[in-house]
Amino acid sequence: MIKTTKLREKLTQIPTDVVSPSDYQRLFKDFIPHDIFEYIEGGVADDLTLHSNRQAFDNIKLKPKILSDFSQASSQCNLLNQTFKYPILLAPVAYQKLVHPQGELATIEAANVMNVGFITSTLSSVSMEDMANKLSTNKWFQLYFQESKQATLSLVKRAEQAGYSTLVITIDAPINGLRNRAQRANFQMPKNVQAVNLAPYAGVAPQTLNPDQSIILNGIMANAPTWDDIAWLQTQTQLPILLKGIINADDAEQAKNMGLAGVVVSNHGGRTLDGLPATITVLPEIRQRVGQDFTLLLDSGIRRGSDAFKAIALGADAVLIGRPQLHGLAVAGALGVAHMLRLFIEEFEITMALMGCPTIADIKPNCIYPQATSY
Ligand code: FNR
Ligand code: LAC
Repeated sequence: MIKTTKLREKLTQIPTDVVSPSDYQRLFKDFIPHDIFEYIEGGVADDLTLHSNRQAFDNIKLKPKILSDFSQASSQCNLLNQTFKYPILLAPVAYQKLVHPQGELATIEAANVMNVGFITSTLSSVSMEDMANKLSTNKWFQLYFQESKQATLSLVKRAEQAGYSTLVITIDAPINGLRNRAQRANFQMPKNVQAVNLAPYAGVAPQTLNPDQSIILNGIMANAPTWDDIAWLQTQTQLPILLKGIINADDAEQAKNMGLAGVVVSNHGGRTLDGLPATITVLPEIRQRVGQDFTLLLDSGIRRGSDAFKAIALGADAVLIGRPQLHGLAVAGALGVAHMLRLFIEEFEITMALMGCPTIADIKPNCIYPQATSY
């Protein structure tokens, strides 16, 4: 039997009990169909990593300093020679028309108003060019390698042409993880929501496999990018490149040694391999390995301004927010995303104030009570 619960209309006024980003998460399920909810909120397999991401943040204890001087306070940060008002960016999140007819364009409106960085996904449901035109903050483009090198290169050239300043190459999802919740809910991408950027590259002939070959190991993975492909891309563009999806300090070190600009410590919000540790757990060892001057961003499980503070204290230069942008967007469009961001930023600044940290540079490991690492 198909469940036909009536969905709520997008709000044009924010209810007074929406006072933190998690209140948008609470309302989210009433504004979108169940299968889309499961696709977005779900992790993979048993959601172990999804839950670890939250538990790890909740277990961190803060160690404040009193009576700090805030006369020169600022939340400004510098990433790859670009200035950001806050060390907070919106993570690349695909197919935003799943939750709102304007999709990514509404989210960008909010990012512009709130002066928050935005990363365009390869799999956006609005074209990367239209998004670049609308974006007034730093423009970053997230790249998924395509089956053919020409298509990958074409995306990079289009990104350059459209004025994107930075490439974020996502390397942790050469194949979808076990999206069991989406499968149980029978999620199918609706026809009107498409990866429009990829339309010009459709029609690559499928390769033929022998009967004893694996579709996954010999089919899909045969085309997955390798370190050599990253090195090749470095020769094709002047844009700084970050790798997104790093968990292992060895990989971060290799990225640094290759001359890449930085990495995003990420487990894709628990959506790739179940059993990965929380990103905040592995961040200190990654920072220690790459040294102070290499750019490290972090995402996965960031829900409150205090989580951003904890991540910066433990070695991140900035954080990315994933699902909460869809929560705000589904509930109240651009207004919802902007309000979610305002609440998030307020929480971050209140944490800085109560922790006695007037600038981002003051947010250091000694702001956290030491804890034995438990993966
Ligand atoms: C994502 N993420 C993602 N990452 C990426 O590099 N390219 C993409 O197109 C997408 N698309 C996408 C869609 C949806 C529905 C989700 C939930 C996530 C991952 C995203 O950038 C980020 O790593 C996580 O969302 C961070 O975790 P939180 O903040 O959602 O817990
Ligand atoms: C996801 C892909 C689009 O997480 O990155 O759903």
